[in-house]
Amino acid sequence: MTQPRAAVGVGHARVEGRLKVTGQARYAADQNIDGMLHAVIVDASVGRGRIVGVDTAAAQAQPGVVAVISHLNATRLTYRENPDSNHPPGERLRALQDDRVRFFGQPVAVAVATTLQQAQHAAGLVTVTYDAEQPVLGLDDGAPNAAADYSRGDTVAALAASDVRMSMTYAPARTHHNPMEPHATVAQWDGDRVTVWDKTQWINATQAELASVFDIPRSQVRVVNPYVGGAFGSALRPWPHVIIAALAARMTRRPVKLVLTRRQLYFGTGYRPAYDYRITLGADRRGRLTAMEHTIRAETSSYEDFREAVTAAGESLYSMPNVRIDYRSIALDVNTPIWKRGPGPATAAFAIEVALDELAHRVGVDPVDLRMRNEPAKDEGSGLPFSTRRLRECVTTGAREIGWQHRARRPGTRRDGDWLIGLGMAAGNYHSGSAPAQARVRLNADGSAVVETASSDMGPGTYTSMTQVAADALGLTLHSVRMRLGDSLYPPTPPHGGSMTMASIGTAVLNGSDAVRRQAVDLAVKDRDSPLYGAAPDQIVVRRGRLTVRDQPARAETYQRLLARNNRDHLEAVGSYTPDGAGQRFSMSAYAATFAEVAVDATLGLIRIRRLVGVYDAGRIVNPRLAESQAIGGMVGGIGAALLEHTVTDERDGRIVNADLAAYLVPVNADVPALKAVYLDGEDPHLVSLGVKGLGEVVHVGVAPAIANAVFNATGHRVRSLPITVETLR
Ligand code: MOS
Repeated sequence: MTQPRAAVGVGHARVEGRLKVTGQARYAADQNIDGMLHAVIVDASVGRGRIVGVDTAAAQAQPGVVAVISHLNATRLTYRENPDSNHPPGERLRALQDDRVRFFGQPVAVAVATTLQQAQHAAGLVTVTYDAEQPVLGLDDGAPNAAADYSRGDTVAALAASDVRMSMTYAPARTHHNPMEPHATVAQWDGDRVTVWDKTQWINATQAELASVFDIPRSQVRVVNPYVGGAFGSALRPWPHVIIAALAARMTRRPVKLVLTRRQLYFGTGYRPAYDYRITLGADRRGRLTAMEHTIRAETSSYEDFREAVTAAGESLYSMPNVRIDYRSIALDVNTPIWKRGPGPATAAFAIEVALDELAHRVGVDPVDLRMRNEPAKDEGSGLPFSTRRLRECVTTGAREIGWQHRARRPGTRRDGDWLIGLGMAAGNYHSGSAPAQARVRLNADGSAVVETASSDMGPGTYTSMTQVAADALGLTLHSVRMRLGDSLYPPTPPHGGSMTMASIGTAVLNGSDAVRRQAVDLAVKDRDSPLYGAAPDQIVVRRGRLTVRDQPARAETYQRLLARNNRDHLEAVGSYTPDGAGQRFSMSAYAATFAEVAVDATLGLIRIRRLVGVYDAGRIVNPRLAESQAIGGMVGGIGAALLEHTVTDERDGRIVNADLAAYLVPVNADVPALKAVYLDGEDPHLVSLGVKGLGEVVHVGVAPAIANAVFNATGHRVRSLPITVETLR
């Protein structure tokens, strides 16, 4: 019998909220250990070349300095091949292992001292001399890696035969994640065992990477990370500083803390790469697409070939017979990029959704109608049916919410005093993925439960939503369930990312909790002294820790009594989730339509966003309050991408010139208007039994193009690069 749903679907506040706001939640850098040293990285001040000398004498002479480590004296590390550490194809950057400088800001030495101030001072006294070369930094200048190709139909012929043909190039900027919590690692060795407290979204990958680099079994690496102060993808792989912290701890035989400075986050962790995304599209006069050609170029490093799912939208978001995609990464003298919220689809949506807006304008069709006209009946990329796809409903709901009927048909014609007013919209989707996961569930004799799973919670509310799932399946209140996350001693999980967490880990928690409840039911129906003795197991439900035979309320007892009478101090099970192949039978995505209203100062070109509305088809919503928080965060991130965020590099040497939060702009309260998030009711029956589709990424995907299209509607100026600024508007 299925359990009543009491907690899932309710907007419970974060179960760990009090710990966070009272400072009791311990983040990686909060870890302190007796005898712990502090490490400060010295990073390369050239963009490419060789290190010819490292003078550490002055640094080493300072009080408190224990070691200054560079490639000249660092222990040789194994860097065993490792398929599980989440690095892109290629050669990993081997921290402090050779004299090569591959990008500006690459760690080249580390000063280790008793106090942070001593280490900072010593790091400043290390003199590194280089044989510098000109780095290759432009997308037009680097060597293209092999193409990821896709095609169907005959794009060339279809384009030639189309009524309307348009060619545009879109250029979203490189952007960094800028989480509030800096990346940090504390490492402690005990013989050949190492424990790291590390900001990571993927406990098990960090564990695998440390094992491979130091050539020890995975079982000898423990990664601990109960709280993460935001990440957005930046912590999906361990960066060199993680290895350097462990290396310094090993060489000094002391625990070592290494916290990247805000500036170092721009050099020492990844970013969403800059793209050059060219679209040539063909359509009929009514705006029915006939063909699209996508030529996509993106930054990657010289040593790893980073790719993301940037081709998916081109393959299947809209219906058309002819598609050709050529996606190449370009090897440059830069740090390796990494996934950032909505990785791939967010970039593709900027190009495709602005291109559709351009087409709508050209053929004189309303952008909402244009989406409807090109809505596919199935996934034309894979040929698979959609599990659920309610994009039409997202679009019509969003249009109603924003007041789309007030949109000016002719751009630049609607005014409010000095301000030009515009409305814009964009669609988007994000693949509903999942991956194997496990969770251990233990029901204690006192009727409380503990659930353990390795996953971190980078901020979406995983502690809370998992507690809700476990509480319902066990038949307990939320307060009786303790969720433990963020430790490699717990059962393994996939990355906390890719909008896979609830489907994957949530199902493992559900299965483990179901198994434990069934153990209890089994115990009861076979126990002659139980009021439930002899009842059919499928007729028993558990509510608030009390097992009852359905329709016979007198036949009941609590978990406590049952376990006590049977001399059991706990019941336990490990729940597993393995994808069941639904992805081979269905095309599964969450969908979104984002609508924006902007005001642009007619004289000054200042852009103010007045309203954003996001409507989402994301399956079942486990916690509406957390889901709204995700949507608001995704929209705020979209405002950043649209109007503010831009990692600027100096083309002379590859230095990031705005490597701080004063010069790298992110939205603040004054930039954020009224935001409205609407989740369509309903669940997806195909991905997992929880009915979810994932929502952390899709809420971000279409925000920047919706704003860009609104700016066009307001002004008549089409900006094809991001961010859209006063300068680009002129
Ligand atoms: Mo998300 S880019 O998988 O953190």
